[in-house]
Amino acid sequence: MKRVSEKVALVTGAASGLGRADALALAREGARVVVSDLNEEAGQALAKDIDGVFVRQDVRSQEDWAKAVGLALSRFGRLDVLVNNAGIVVPADIETATLEQYRLLNAVHAEGTFLGCQAAIKAMKGNPGATGSIINISSLSAVRGFPGVITYAAAKGAILSMTTTIAAHCREKGYAIRCNAILPGMINTPLLAAVGADTLPGLGQPEDVANTVLFLASDESRHMSGAHIVLDNAASIIGGGA
Ligand SMILES: NC(=O)c1ccc[n+]([C@@H]2O[C@H](COP(=O)([O-])OP(=O)(O)OC[C@H]3O[C@@H](n4cnc5c(N)ncnc54)[C@H](O)[C@@H]3O)[C@@H](O)[C@H]2O)c1
Repeated sequence: MKRVSEKVALVTGAASGLGRADALALAREGARVVVSDLNEEAGQALAKDIDGVFVRQDVRSQEDWAKAVGLALSRFGRLDVLVNNAGIVVPADIETATLEQYRLLNAVHAEGTFLGCQAAIKAMKGNPGATGSIINISSLSAVRGFPGVITYAAAKGAILSMTTTIAAHCREKGYAIRCNAILPGMINTPLLAAVGADTLPGLGQPEDVANTVLFLASDESRHMSGAHIVLDNAASIIGGGA
């Protein structure tokens, strides 16, 4: 028995890095996957490989969210899993960051996740028993001080409070819609290469995050909602990031 068979999943930022690994793992375990990204070429190729469907989506756009969730419903009839994963990083500390950078990072991470959660809950409420799993990709930087990524850390922190609040809302409403966050430490992806950190020792691999996503997407985690899961192989405990 596959772990997420019969489930329909939408993964944002799925053309690269963690999102790609999530989409591959979910498809391998039986889910039908909507591959969402700004990068059409890589997104289309992945969707073809996993027998899924691609949607070009900017997570900052409310219209694009309606399009992406609409595609899950029209193609596959429902939405069970949303992975809010799309993201960017702009290195800058509190003294060098600009308001424009702050607003951009907030728009992609915090507003993108906010819009995604709204769109997903609306769709998941239509599932029998109002069931679903929303998985928000935050970051270790939301809870540990990494001075060089202030705007990124602030936006990732907003994702954590959103996750807690949405989990409480769904529980109060009696929906079986769960909302959890993953806080990866440094994982070897193109995003990490962009900030020159991809050669550090002890990095995690995208599959390490994908395995946690798979657990949260599956019914194995049915009693877990509102959790903030740090995934860093104890790096932060011993004083590192990777
Ligand atoms: N790699 C790490 O060490 C690490 C650690 C903690 C958290 N994260 C988070 O994991 C997520 C994935 O990161 P990654 O390392 O795989 O990065 P990545 O750069 O490999 O992939 C990110 C993907 O998001 C897409 N994207 C960017 N902006 C978008 C937008 N506005 N709308 C739609 N798609 C957009 C990109 O096209 C790309 O395919 C991000 O949210 C990132 O902040 C990564």
